[in-house]
Amino acid sequence: MLYSRIAGTGSYLPATVVTNSDLEKRVDTSDEWIRTRTGIRERHFAAEGELSSDLAMQACRRALQAAGRDVSEVDLIVVATTTPDMIFPGVACILQAKLGVTRGAAFDVQAVCSGFVYALSIADMFVRSGQSRCALVVGTEVYSGILDWNDRSTCVLFGDGAGAVVLLPSQEPGILATRLHTDGRYTDILAVPARVCGGNIAGKPFVTMEGQAVFKFAVKVLTEVAAEVLERAGLPLEQVDWFIPHQANVRIIEATARKLGLPMERVVVTVDRHANTSAASVPLALDEAVRDGRIRAGQHVLLEAVGGGFTWGACLIKWG
Ligand code: UT7
Repeated sequence: MLYSRIAGTGSYLPATVVTNSDLEKRVDTSDEWIRTRTGIRERHFAAEGELSSDLAMQACRRALQAAGRDVSEVDLIVVATTTPDMIFPGVACILQAKLGVTRGAAFDVQAVCSGFVYALSIADMFVRSGQSRCALVVGTEVYSGILDWNDRSTCVLFGDGAGAVVLLPSQEPGILATRLHTDGRYTDILAVPARVCGGNIAGKPFVTMEGQAVFKFAVKVLTEVAAEVLERAGLPLEQVDWFIPHQANVRIIEATARKLGLPMERVVVTVDRHANTSAASVPLALDEAVRDGRIRAGQHVLLEAVGGGFTWGACLIKWG
């Protein structure tokens, strides 16, 4: 039986760091409010003209280097993003050209903050079925462009960045199990409710969110899907070495870990420095924990995310 395994990770954060104190100068907020309500201390913002494909390119180069693979080997690129460079073509196509990849398929996945977990699940199926022998799976976002600076309840929460992994075929698992869910009845509580129509933007082209409804929904489904994916793999929770949830709010992360019975020592947290980078948050956190040596061969890693749609999902991995 063929499996897929992550052979290398990479990430990229734009150079500009914006602290909570910097935001105090721009909106009616305080470092104290942001830290106590969310755990966020700072975030990175892309430079003018720096697009999701640019961030993705840097993350992919680092992931390929870590995996010891050349761009000529890549035959699949799946990009998770909510902030594409343009309406079409997709970021994956633009990224393919920027990387110099000339074969295989490249496409985007739109599942908002769950995008990377969705993209990884899709790429896993491509690799296991033999359709891909070297896949790049990327989460990349430039949220700074869709923040409403008149809405202090959302503009302080997000940041920009990208994370990527190289997925290869393997005789050993690899990705042990994945679970994906959607409930379209909740589209209204988290959205950028705009579209382009007749050369104009119809609707509000900024993040809108009912924070408390999202908070409760997130804790509930993240707890449920963790149990589901563990059951599917036949793995007890005690054997999860690292839990890497979507990084939206440290209170959501702590509440989920508490409900699962996982100590915070086994949870990777980057939201304090990255804020919520949507589809990029999980691969950014994964790359950090791989590069600093926390995640080691043979360990079990549980990735989870939840986002607009509503979408949510989990991937359970045996690190190889
Ligand atoms: O990727 C998934 C997307 N998002 C999330 O996961 C976010 C989920 N939700 C949350 O993280 C939290 O609901 C928030 C951090 C967004 C808000 O925290 P909260 O504890 O639910 O606060 P709240 O919305 O109930 O607001 C409490 C107060 C309000 O003032 P009053 O009405 O009590 O006087 C707000 O106006 O905090 C005020 N407030 C702020 N004050 C200072 C809201 N935003 C700010 C701010 N600075 N930035």
